[in-house]
Order: sequence, then structure tokens, then C-alpha cells
Amino acid sequence: MSKMNHSTQWSSSDVGGLCWVSDPAQAYIEARVTSVEKGVVRAEASDGRTFDVDLQLPLKPPSRKQKEPPRRILQRVPLTTNNGVENMDNLQSLQEASILDNIQHRFRMDLIYTNTGPILIAMNPFKWLPIYGDDVIGRYHNAPYGSLPPHCFQEAEDAFSSLQKTRRNQAVVICGESGAGKTETTKLMLHYLAVVSKRQSARDAKLKGTTQSTGPTIAERMVASNPLLEAFGNAKTLRNDNSSRFGKFTRFDFERNSSTINGGHIENLLLEKVRVVEQSSGERNYHIFYQLCAAAKAGKLPGQAGKALTGDASTHIYSKTCTSVDDMDDSEEFDATVAALDALGVKGAELEAIFRAAAAVYVLGDVEFAEDGDGSKISTQAPLDTAASLLGVSSSKLAQALCTRVRDVAGEGGVRDIVTTQNTPEEASTLRHALAKATFSRLFDWLVQRANKAFDKSDQSQFIGILDIFGFEDMATNGFEQVFINTTNEQLQKVFNDLVFEAEAEEYTREGIDWDKTCFPDNTPCIELLTKRPIGILRLLDSECSRGFVASDGAKLVAKVNKAHASSPFFEVCGPASVWRRKDGSRTEDADFLVHHFAGPIVYTVSSFVEKNRDALFPHVYDVLHASSDSLIQACFPEREEVQSKKETVANKYLSQLASLTATLRESSTRFVRCIKTNSEKQPQKLDKPAVLSQLVCSGVMAALEVRRAGFPTRVPYREFVREFRAFTPRGAAITDPKQLAHAMMRHPHVAERVPSSAYRLGASKLFMQSEVLYQLQSIRNAMLYPFVRRLQRWWVKLQGSILQRKLKRCGADLRDASSEAAIKGVNCVAFVRDALQKCEASLAKANLLINKPAEAAEALSSLRAEIAKATEIVKAAVQKKEEAYRIRAEFLAEIDDAYSRCKALRTIANGLYAPRDAEGLTDACVDAEGKLGACRTELLTVAAQWDQGALALSGSQGPHSLRKGAMQSMKNISSKQDTHEHRRARLDTALKSVREAESLSQKMLERQRLLDEARREFQAALDAASERLAIIPVEQFIIQGIRAVPDAVVEARDAIYEAQKTLQGSDSAPIKEAVTNAQASVDKALARAESEALRLRAMTDLDECEKTLVQIGHEVREGGFEERIGDLLTHGEKLVQDARAVADAPDVATLVRAARGAVDAVNHAGEQLEKAQAQKRAEEKARFNKLLGRFQRMDEANSGRGVPKFARKAGGGVQKPLFKVKRVSTVPVEAPPPPPVQPRIIPKAPKSPLTPRNVSPPDTPAAATPATVTKTSVQTPAGGHTLDSWIAAKNLGKYATQLHDLAGDLHDLQEMTDADADELAQECAMPKLAARRFKKALLELGAPVHP
Ligand SMILES: Nc1ncnc2c1ncn2[C@@H]1O[C@H](COP(=O)(O)OP(=O)(O)OP(=O)(O)O)[C@@H](O)[C@H]1O
Ligand SMILES: [Mg+2]
Repeated sequence: MSKMNHSTQWSSSDVGGLCWVSDPAQAYIEARVTSVEKGVVRAEASDGRTFDVDLQLPLKPPSRKQKEPPRRILQRVPLTTNNGVENMDNLQSLQEASILDNIQHRFRMDLIYTNTGPILIAMNPFKWLPIYGDDVIGRYHNAPYGSLPPHCFQEAEDAFSSLQKTRRNQAVVICGESGAGKTETTKLMLHYLAVVSKRQSARDAKLKGTTQSTGPTIAERMVASNPLLEAFGNAKTLRNDNSSRFGKFTRFDFERNSSTINGGHIENLLLEKVRVVEQSSGERNYHIFYQLCAAAKAGKLPGQAGKALTGDASTHIYSKTCTSVDDMDDSEEFDATVAALDALGVKGAELEAIFRAAAAVYVLGDVEFAEDGDGSKISTQAPLDTAASLLGVSSSKLAQALCTRVRDVAGEGGVRDIVTTQNTPEEASTLRHALAKATFSRLFDWLVQRANKAFDKSDQSQFIGILDIFGFEDMATNGFEQVFINTTNEQLQKVFNDLVFEAEAEEYTREGIDWDKTCFPDNTPCIELLTKRPIGILRLLDSECSRGFVASDGAKLVAKVNKAHASSPFFEVCGPASVWRRKDGSRTEDADFLVHHFAGPIVYTVSSFVEKNRDALFPHVYDVLHASSDSLIQACFPEREEVQSKKETVANKYLSQLASLTATLRESSTRFVRCIKTNSEKQPQKLDKPAVLSQLVCSGVMAALEVRRAGFPTRVPYREFVREFRAFTPRGAAITDPKQLAHAMMRHPHVAERVPSSAYRLGASKLFMQSEVLYQLQSIRNAMLYPFVRRLQRWWVKLQGSILQRKLKRCGADLRDASSEAAIKGVNCVAFVRDALQKCEASLAKANLLINKPAEAAEALSSLRAEIAKATEIVKAAVQKKEEAYRIRAEFLAEIDDAYSRCKALRTIANGLYAPRDAEGLTDACVDAEGKLGACRTELLTVAAQWDQGALALSGSQGPHSLRKGAMQSMKNISSKQDTHEHRRARLDTALKSVREAESLSQKMLERQRLLDEARREFQAALDAASERLAIIPVEQFIIQGIRAVPDAVVEARDAIYEAQKTLQGSDSAPIKEAVTNAQASVDKALARAESEALRLRAMTDLDECEKTLVQIGHEVREGGFEERIGDLLTHGEKLVQDARAVADAPDVATLVRAARGAVDAVNHAGEQLEKAQAQKRAEEKARFNKLLGRFQRMDEANSGRGVPKFARKAGGGVQKPLFKVKRVSTVPVEAPPPPPVQPRIIPKAPKSPLTPRNVSPPDTPAAATPATVTKTSVQTPAGGHTLDSWIAAKNLGKYATQLHDLAGDLHDLQEMTDADADELAQECAMPKLAARRFKKALLELGAPVHP
């Protein structure tokens, strides 16, 4: 497409209007604009879908890289006529959606041909229509172009009449993808030319009074010979059961200044050789091989081939992949091939030789090789012998040639040496394939030459040529053949561009009319990339071949190509890192490159390019064939020197063929037929819109249409215009310049009234008009001339003197009109139409006989007139009925197609449903709906077939055998039940109801899926929360403590979460819910477990502490001699500790906690009692001490007041310490908190954990953060429960406070003083002996181990 846009400006005034929205599945869908806001158009389709199309987004043609291109929105103008628009130049809205709509509409009405400018679009109907019969040929012959509906016959007629008028060569290029109908269209056009040329020649001969030979004409013989090349050059492929595997330019040569075809020529291009030796799965080899097998089996294959071929096609290696084609009887086709050869004059020995050569190729495939030392040997002798004998060569020489390789190498001193080496079995097999391919392709060339020998006349003066050429190919892997095929199409597109687009532009420029050239597509750079000397891709390939054995191939060759063209915008380097992919989606490799063709980007894979291009058979094998005793084989393998001197490579040969072909087309007046494959399933009445649109774009139809529509498509040279419309010449005007005269004519009042000056332009030599102007001018002229014509006619009739004859003639003409109307509209099959017409014919013949009896003739005439009028009415009524039926059928089909696409969408939804049961249910609903739709469609087509087949049977049309057979078959299937449209409507409504039901089912399922999605999200959140809660359990701590139960519970909970995660993928929420609840319960359990184990741990720690404290208290009791007061408490405490230990492993941790608390309380109680006892004892000691101190003081004062003795100072230096310290154990709650209840909800609110998160709590203080179990810090109390200060104050000893503090601090020291210490102190203080003795006594009272 030259341009892509959204068509027109969109504004709020468009709301409510119709539009087209591009859609990947349906190309374009009808919709209604619902809003236009901020550059975004919202449209709603009939199926309820809404689309927001952003007008700002750039639109590009979809590339293979693009997943889904942005949507495009175009205005929709509904078609106003029942039959659509015949020439799309006249479409009111000219854009691809309306073009597609028009084509689709016409296709549904079985109107398969549509014109667009200079192109004829031919839709493949995949059913035989009654529009090719002799009566239709008669109708188109001599009819002015455009006066009848578009047809391939009209193009043929145009070529035929142009040749007669202009004497310029004419050409028709028929393009399209495989299976689009090129070959059938070619055959139909050739048939038309053969028929009209014969009729015209007969008429001319009659006029000249000469006689014509009665046998078949050359053209007829050429048409009849067609099955021959189809047998040898066509094969069943996945895309077409009769696919032409070669290009063909067929020429009909015309005698100078005559309409007689006196010769013809066929030029063949690029036969697909590799098919001879290998075929893809589901595809066949060339038809001829299967025909030979079938004929041999039926005993009708003549000569040696008949004896050689035994067994059917599945037993031969070269044909075993696939052996049959639907509706094709190979045995019958063989008869057609023999008849075709007969049309060429090939009979007897020559015929046998052809079949022998083909059979030899076939049998060569069955030869097998085995290892023999370093080389190979034949392991299946019989096929080799058969092949050698069929080829007319020695079996041993052939075997030796295949098993060896002979090379001519340069020896010393420039002398050439012949070196012979042994082939491995693989090499021998490859060589055998090469021989088979070479022999078959040479045989094919020979057959073409032979046909040309039969038809070619050297004195050809003018010709009409029809090119049936393979369309663009983009296969899974594009190799050597695709490069040539696509190069050809690129060249043809260039011819098309040049002839249509550039001619338009040049013409506008030449004629001095403003014209925008920039919209022309130009593919010249792409062609140069492929073919320009010296570095065009094909040229590089060719020059590589000339390097002989050192030539590079594959990645190396591509590296050269990349180097030469990397900068070209039409070329892209591919490789493993490239974003491009091959057609099958696989990655590109180093041996790949990409070319941007006009039809799209294509990745080529270069392997064996050089070998395929070289295409040379080893000389030693060639020589064996050359020496054949068979003259046909000899002719196929002529003198080797001759061949070699030409240095022919495939590329070289092909490029020169292509150059000569394009030159021929440029020199001729060329018209284009674009065949469109309507669907890949080969189904009648089925249109795959995206595929059709892509073909229209690729074939340049859209671009051509836009260019033509942009300007003034109708142009008439001034002289011609002046002659044609001289009725408009102004009275008395003496203008001689035709341009001025034309201008004056266009201002004629009648013309100016209806044709505004903006509707035409005055060029230098032509008048340029908008498409409808010419028609307007003709009707104005006719209206002006009509009275004169009437007068002239009357004068003429009178001059003839035979009004009756005239009337009879007119009756005859009316009858013919009625008959051809009936024929062309396909109602001549209806019995009452046929009867009425036949009755008129009989009456006309009768009236003609009465021409000399005026009275009777007048009577016969009046009844004849009445009959003809009645017959015409009958025809009209039948046509109307048929058109009405077609219209209704088209409507029904449109509804069915629409419903099918809805089903397709539902299937996509079904594929996306998680629940297999839902997906299955929806698919079943689709299958059911599609089944009903299919039944409706089949019924409609069957009913339509009643019209078509009846007409076909009567029309005696030419057409492919398979189609006729299909037509007959469907005749048999026509239901006898004559249902009305209402019945069919009812059935269709039922089918549509099923679609609607399936749609509502899909809605429910989608809703269910949405709810499930939501529930899944909630479940997921619940599981995440559970995981978080689980994470706070300090598992490592428990492991260190050797408590397995907690880690086990955690593992169990994790497993439960994991299991629940797995269930999330399920499609039923109940099990998911159960699994999630389980997981939550497991987590709660693990948390409760962790908490109770933490309590148990703390209780055990408390018990340990109790034991330690009991030991300490016991020690203190014994030391202090408090057994009597404290002993029982101690024993009680110990018992409680023991009791608590006894329940340490109790599953109910509360019991342990209670027991531990009792023990702690008992121990604390014992501690307190001990403290009290000790305090009491200390008080007594202090009293004694005070007494002692008083004595010292008095002594001191008596000894001149030296203050506190030294020992007392020493003893009072430390900090005051409690005499007995009870380490209080932590308090524990009486009851362990109950485990958190299992949350009944699906979504848990994360309960506040009693445990501190691992990263917050220090591992060894698990209870630190637990409010219920805060450990109380042990409080140290001063000895005796009162302070020294209070004591000093009570004793009024403030004067000695410092010393007493020192002493009190060291009371322990005093208590521990030995005799030696006391003596040392007494000596130091210079105590008198008595004082020393008293001091020691005081010490003894304090409990120190002294002996006073
Ligand atoms: N005008 C037609 N009317 C009915 N059926 C047709 C018509 N043209 C083609 N067909 C059907 O389409 C089939 C394929 O047509 P044809 O062999 O002409 O395709 P092609 O374009 O030549 O393909 P290829 O490139 O593979 O040779 C025919 O066998 C026939 O069934
Ligand atoms: Mg073909």
C-alpha cells in the first residue's frame, strides 16, 4: 500500500455513523462510532466489542516483527447496488475496506470478476460457474470494453480487438499465489481466443468467398495439447492439487492483418527440478509418474515402459510420499496426456520414447547403493538394469558412472590429468538424483520444443501472449527456487508499475496536468539489489559458480552478499542475533539474508545455492547418456562441448529469459489479471478476508486504484473526442485546432449543464475526465441524436421496402437478447424459461418461412411478438427470482460467516479458560453451533448448485475436469426437499441461537474465571500472611535447644503452605480453600507449639535456677546453723522442684509452668526466711560489735584520743555488701496462654504473635518480648534489711560515721581474721596486751576463727 491512514478527519459529528475497524482475524469489521474525543475514536461492533482507535498512533503495514498492528478506522459507505460495483474506479468510498467489502459482496453473489482500473481481479470460486459457455463467449465477442460485466473473456476480447485495431502485440500477465486460479484463467482465455478467432476467420472467409478447412485450428490444437505440459510440469502440492511447477508464456500468433491464428509458441520458465527426487509430506511428484503407473496397471502404457513399470506408485521411491489426488483419476488423465500428444502429432515410436524416458527417471529412483571397500556398488541390480535399458545405455557403464567420480585436474606443466575416484554410497545416490533431475528437466524442455515445433511459424507478425507465472512465495524455508520466483515477481511488479503508475504520471506530465508523483511505488532498487551487474545477489551467486570447486556456499556466500549490500534499505543481514525469523518462526542463521520485496520481507536460506546454480552433470555421466542408443535421450544430451562452451548456469539462463520476457511485455500492450485465492481450504463460497486483503495489497491493486482515483481516469485524444462527440460542435464554429474545438464542445449548453468544468482537464493532446463523465457525455449525445437516428432508420426501412423483414429481424434480435440474458444470468437451465425460449425459436423459424406471404406472416409476427414479450418477461422473472435467491443467500452466508467468526472468537476464549471442564463445555457448544452453521451453509450451497449445475450442464462450458466432476457430484447430492427461504431462515435462526447460547455460556464462564482469579489472589495473600507468621518462629534456637517438635511443626506448616500453593493452579475454589485453611491451621499449630515450647524452656530454666538457689540456701543454712528454722522449707522447696521436674515432659505445658511457679515460690520463701534469720543474727552480731566498738573508743580516748585504731580503719575500706543474697528466679504466669484459636476465616488476620520476631528478639531470651512473661530483675537488699546509716543514727555515732562505714564494709574481713591477722593488727596499732586480748575476743564473738 502506498498510503495507510484512518481515512478522513473524525469529529463528533461522525458519532452514530458507520465505520470499518481493522481486525487481525477478519481484516475489517463493521462498527458504529460511539464517541470521538481527544483524537480517540470509539466504535462498537455488532458483536458488542468496543474499540478505541487512537488517531495519533502511526500506522504502518504490519510486519512480521509486529505482533498486532494498531487498529485502523475507516468510514463505511454501504454498497448501493445489489451486485456491488463492477469497476471499482467508481466506488464512492475508495479505501481497502470498501474494496474488500465490494469484492466480498460480489463473490457471495457468484460475481467473481471485478475491474479496478487496468486490472481484472479474478476470485477463485472453487466451484464451476456457468459463465464460460459458448453463448457467453458469443456475448462478449465484439462487445465494447466495459459494456458487459467484468470477465476474463472481456480481457481476452480486449486483447483480440486491440490487436485487430492497433496491430500492436498484446500481452496478459496473470499473477497470483499458488492455487489462485492462474492456470485455469489462462486456459479459459486461450480457449476464448481460439473460439473467437475461428468464428471471425470463418466470417471473414465467408465475406471473401473463400473456404476454410474444417479440422481443428492450430489454436484449438494448442489448447488441446495443454494436458501434456500439465502432466509433466504440474503436481499436487499442499496448496493446489494441480499446481504448475513452472512458469509459462503462451503465445498465439496471428496472420498479418487478419484475425486468424496461424501459429503459437510456448516459453517455459524454471521447472522445479528437485520435486523429481523429493517431495514434502502430503505432496506428490509430477502427475506423469502416477499416470504411467496407472496406465501400466491398466495395460495401456505402450512399449518398453509398459513392461518395465510394475507395481503401483507407492512401491517407487520417487512417488511413495503421497500417491493420490482427490477427484483425479490418473488413468483417465493418462488418456488426456496421450490425446494431447496426439494433438501435437506425436504417435507411435515417438510416443513410446517419451514414456520410456519418463519411466527411466522414475525407475532410477529405485536404484540403491551399498558400500564396497572405499567406494560403492549397486545393491539393487534390477532397477538399474531397467533404467539403463529404458535410457538405451549399458547397465554396467551406467553403474560405473554412478559409482565413480572422474575429474579433470591440472597436472604438471599445465598438462591436464584425468583423476578417477570412488564414490561413497551417499555420493553415488546424490549423483543418481542429479541424473534423474537432469534427464527429467531436459525431457520437459524437449517436450516444449517439440510442441513449439508443431505450432511455431516463423512468419509470426503479431501475437497475443498470456503469461501464467508463479506468484510470490514465502515458504517455511526460502531457498534457491524462491529467489528466482520472487525476483520474477519483483520484475513483473516493475513492469506493472512502469506501465500503470509511471505511464499515468508521465502522461499527466506530458499533457501538462498537475500530478503528484510521490505516491508511486518504485521497486527498482530492489530489482537492482537482486540482478544488477556485477554485485546483484544473483550476479554474485553466478560469479561464485565460475570459481569452480573453491566456490563458497552457505554462510560464506552470504557473508559476501552481506558485505556488498548491508547498506541497502531493501536488504537486511540476518544471523542468530537477528530479530527476524523464518516463516516457520525458527531463528535465522548465518546462512540467511533478508530482502524487502514489494510484497513484504522474505528471509532466504542459502544452502547448496552454488551447486543448484551450477546444475552441471558430471561429464563422465553426461557422456554415458550422450552415447545412448535412444534418439530422444541423445537429443536431450547433445554434444558436450557445445553445452559446456555456453557456460550455462541456472541464474544466467534464467536472468536472460526474464530479461527477454520483460522486454516482450514492455513492447506489448499489457493488461493484468490478479487471481485471488479465496481460502486455503479450497472451499466454495468461503472468503478468508485477511488473506484476500493481503493478496490485494501484495499484487499492487490497492495502490493502482488509489492512483487512478486520485486523478482523471478517462482520457480521450482530442481528435477521437471531436469525432465521437461531433454532435456537440457549436453551430457555425470554424475552429480547426482539435483542442480548442474540444474545449468549445465541452461548453455546449447541454454538456455544460450536466458536466462541471472541474470534472475534466484539458491536456496537451487528450481530454482528461473523471470516471463518470464519459458516460454522461454519451448519454447527452444519444439523447440529442436519437430523433435523427429514428428518422434515418425509417428512411432505411423504407428503402429496403420490407418492414416485415425488419420486424422479424428485430424479433430475432429480441429473442437473442432474451436468450443471452437467460444464459448470462444462468437461468437458461430452468425448464419453463427454456421451454418459452424454444417455443419462440420455433415460431420465429415458422414466421421466417412465411416471409413471402405477407398476410400470414403478419399474423405469425403478431403472435411471435406476444410470445417473445412473454418469454422476455419469463426470463426477467426468472432472473429476478434467481437474483433474489442469490441476494438472500448472500445475506444468509454473510450471517453464517459472521457467526463462524464469532465461534472462532469463542474458541479462542475456550482455549484461555483454566477449567478443562469449562473449556470442553464451551468447545462443545462451539462445535454444536458450528455444526449447525455448517449444515446451513451446505444446504445453501446445495440449493445454489441447483441453479449453477443446471446452467452448467446446459452451457457446455469448458473447464477443468475435476470441477465438472465436482459439479456432477453435487448435482447428485441435491436434496429433493424443496424448502423455502423461510424454512432455511428458521434453521439458520436455530444455528444462530446456538451461537448466542455459546456466547452467553462463555460470558458465564469468563465471569466464573474472573471470580476464581479474585479468589486465587485472596488465597495467595492468605498464604503469604501465613508464611510471614511462620517466619517469626526462631527455629534455630529450638534446634540448638534440641527441641525437635517446633522445627517439625514448622516444616509441616511449610509443607502445607507449599501444598496449598500448588492447588492455586486448580480451577475449583473448594479444594484450594481447603488447602489454604489447612495451611493456616498448620501455621497456627506451629506457632502454638513454638510458644508452649518456649514456656516449657523458661520453666525448666527457672527450675535450674531454683536448684542452684536451693544449694546456695542449703549452704547458708548449714553455715549459719539455721537447719532448725529453714530445714523444712528447704526440703519442701526441693520436693516441689522434683515434682515440677517430674512433669517436665507433660504434654500440657501449663502443669509444668504451674509446678515450676510453685517451686519458685517455695524457694523464694525459703530464701526470704533465711534472709530473715540471717538478719536477726546479724543484728545480734552488730549489737556485740557496737559493744566492742564502745570499748575501743573508750580505750582510745584513754590512750590520748588517737581516733579509730588502725585495724578498724583498714576494716572499714570496702563497699557495703549484703550478708545473704537470694537470687530471685523469674516469675512465670500461672497459666500458659491458650493457643490462638484456628481461624475459621479463609483470609486470616495475622494474629499478634506471642513470640518476638526472630530478627528482633535475642535468640537466648525468647521470653524477653513476651509481656506475660517479663522476667523480674533480681533485687539485692542490704544486709539485715536496714542500713548502717540508720543504725549509726540510732546509736548517735555520727562522729564515727566514716570509720564505721569503713568497718562495716570490712565486717567480712573481721569475721575472717585469723590469730595471726589479729596479732599483726594489734601490733600495728600498738595495742596493749589486754586490749589485744579483748579485740580478739570481740573477733571471736563476730565469728572469726581466733583464739583469745
Ligand atoms: N475460474 C474458476 N472457476 C472455478 N474454479 C476455479 C477457477 N479457477 C481456479 N479454480 C479452482 O482452483 C484450482 C487451482 O487453480 P489453478 O491450478 O489455476 O491455480 P494456479 O494459480 O495456477 O496455482 P499454481 O500457482 O499452484 O499453479 C483449480 O484446480 C480449480 O479447482
Ligand atoms: Mg498453475
